[in-house]
Amino acid sequence: MSTKRQIKLGAIIHGVGSSTSLWRHPDIQADASINIDFYKKQALKAEEGKFDLLFIADGLYINEKSIPHFLNRFEPITILSALASITTNIGLVGTLSTSYSEPFTVARQFASIDHISGGRAGWNVVTSPLEGSALNFSKKEHPTHDQRYRIAEEYLEVAKGLWDSWEDDAFVRNKETGVFFDPSKMHRLNHEGEFFSVQGPLNIARSKQGHPVVFQAGSSDSGRRLAAKTADAVFTGHETIEEAKAFYSDVKKRAAEFGRSADEILIFPGIGPIIGQTAEEAERKYQEVADLVSIEDALQYLGRYFDHLDFSQFPLDEPFPDLGEAGKNSFRSTTDRIKQKAKEKGLTLRQVAREAATPRSRFIGTPEQIADQVQQWFEEGAADGFIIGGGVPNALEDFVEQVVPILQARGLYRTEYESDTLRGNLGLAVPVNRYTKQHENSLI
Ligand SMILES: Cc1cc2nc3c(=O)[nH]c(=O)nc-3n(C[C@H](O)[C@H](O)[C@H](O)COP(=O)(O)O)c2cc1C
Repeated sequence: MSTKRQIKLGAIIHGVGSSTSLWRHPDIQADASINIDFYKKQALKAEEGKFDLLFIADGLYINEKSIPHFLNRFEPITILSALASITTNIGLVGTLSTSYSEPFTVARQFASIDHISGGRAGWNVVTSPLEGSALNFSKKEHPTHDQRYRIAEEYLEVAKGLWDSWEDDAFVRNKETGVFFDPSKMHRLNHEGEFFSVQGPLNIARSKQGHPVVFQAGSSDSGRRLAAKTADAVFTGHETIEEAKAFYSDVKKRAAEFGRSADEILIFPGIGPIIGQTAEEAERKYQEVADLVSIEDALQYLGRYFDHLDFSQFPLDEPFPDLGEAGKNSFRSTTDRIKQKAKEKGLTLRQVAREAATPRSRFIGTPEQIADQVQQWFEEGAADGFIIGGGVPNALEDFVEQVVPILQARGLYRTEYESDTLRGNLGLAVPVNRYTKQHENSLI
């Protein structure tokens, strides 16, 4: 078996897409976001391409301005448990917010998916950027950006503690002796912290992966710190390879400061490949999608990043407005980048809105050109893997059928799964139960 470092791949299944208008394209199923057959087909296509994982994003607040996919979509845990039963090797990663849930419930849900899928569960930890989320969860106020990350840090400590409630061999189930479990291998967490108080134990055994794989999405300073300290993988987004490399080395360096090695945390930029048999065909596919978006739609799309700020109040063809602190308590890393780029390049509001609503993917061209770029990002320290998104119709199908074989022929990507667990395929170790480790250390 080759030990050469290989590219990891995830597929984000995102219904009618993250655009305001893609659903109108003749090749898009208009009800895809709520169509189980669409999700099944995408999952099986990604598994045919030997992808490491499926990725389901999520949000907790909508209004009339939300994009179509956000208005009407599946809850991640529910759709993943359905997909678990029709797939065999691919990982199942779902987004769940630490700002609007309880660690006991969530630790239990992901442990359950891990058992149901035989060790393929992953949790994308997010902190919820939108203030309106508070209105749906009986809260008077949306916690500030910093507080959300402090909550997330404690939340993960609790969840991981709960996943160790039972040592691996705690359930004896001896019918002759009548011993169902070994009480010395059941542990209470007794957590009392700033935000949570949780006794435990969790009412489900430790699963095959020990702990489901923890993804983190959020690229601000606090987001990177959380990832470096606690995550197995990071979902991120970058426009250029230079930005991606800087992010990659920063997160790996921060992980080292927490005593972790660089390969214990994997970086996955999201990319939206647009593939054509010629460069012109790929460009035509992009233009078809871009032409579907009106300027009003584009302004609404941009507004969401700034907590649904109404951009129609500003002149379209003058320099991008000075927004002060707007966006700081929402998608901070994204809004900082939008403001900075507009200033540096002297862009108008119209240009910024168009770019946000229909970003022209850097990964556009023939299958060979896409494979070259993927290889370059991977080999030059910008990525350990990629989350493939669908900015145009059939993006996943095109990638699996046309780019994957090239990456395989170059020895950059697997031809068979190495493992039947997500940790196994990602090359991540199974964490040893903390109590087992204690006994073992006390015997040394
Ligand atoms: C690539 C990426 C993907 C994200 N996906 C989600 C998501 O699916 N659901 C969600 O509520 N927030 C998502 N977020 C938002 C973050 O969890 C976070 O709340 C927000 O980005 C603010 O944090 P930041 O300033 O650290 O980026 C995502 C952020 C990034 C950068």
